[in-house]
Amino acid sequence: MNIKKRLLRTFALALIGLAIGGAIAYIQVSSESAHVIKQNVTQNSGPSRMAGVNLGGSFDLMDHNGKAVTAETYDGKYKLIYFGFTYCPAICPTELQKITQVMNKLDEEFSKQIQPLFITVDPERDTAEVMAEYVSLFHPELIGLTGTTDQIGKVMKDYKIFATKVEDDSMSEYTMDHSSFIYFMSMDNKPLGIYRMQDDADYIVGDILKILASS
Ligand code: NI
Repeated sequence: MNIKKRLLRTFALALIGLAIGGAIAYIQVSSESAHVIKQNVTQNSGPSRMAGVNLGGSFDLMDHNGKAVTAETYDGKYKLIYFGFTYCPAICPTELQKITQVMNKLDEEFSKQIQPLFITVDPERDTAEVMAEYVSLFHPELIGLTGTTDQIGKVMKDYKIFATKVEDDSMSEYTMDHSSFIYFMSMDNKPLGIYRMQDDADYIVGDILKILASS
């Protein structure tokens, strides 16, 4: 099945899911630190809420063109990072669409300072080739990153991302439960903003502008 058909199917499934009111918690919080992140985001506003949030750093990965990259490949840019997988039934396409909207809503003088990155939590299926086709459905600047199981494991740990395979008897393929946060990272890969699924594009744009104005 090609990716466009897959996406159409997954959007349809998402609508059905909403229709039956399936309030499934997709955010899986695996560790204390993730709890801290959630509380900080909920209770505070503005960049100061990131004080004490220890995540981020550089990485060794491969981009969707098959080129080895590190965080330094994107030096001089802020980063909007989302972790997910291309077979995701609903949340990932929605969040990547949101990143696309954020990039489009920002004035060019700001958007050109930001590199959007989509890092897979499913390197087994998300090869560079699969990532290339998938990211082409979103913002033209979006870069898909994959890697070996070890490389992906390390970046997930550094960015406090939880993901686990889930076998579903009604599906021929496995799916994955995973954390869903959009990270706004500084040029030296420290967290400036963390956005949840309920934060819409306008909120994120406003917050990014606030952060850029105060940095
Ligand atoms: Ni997902």
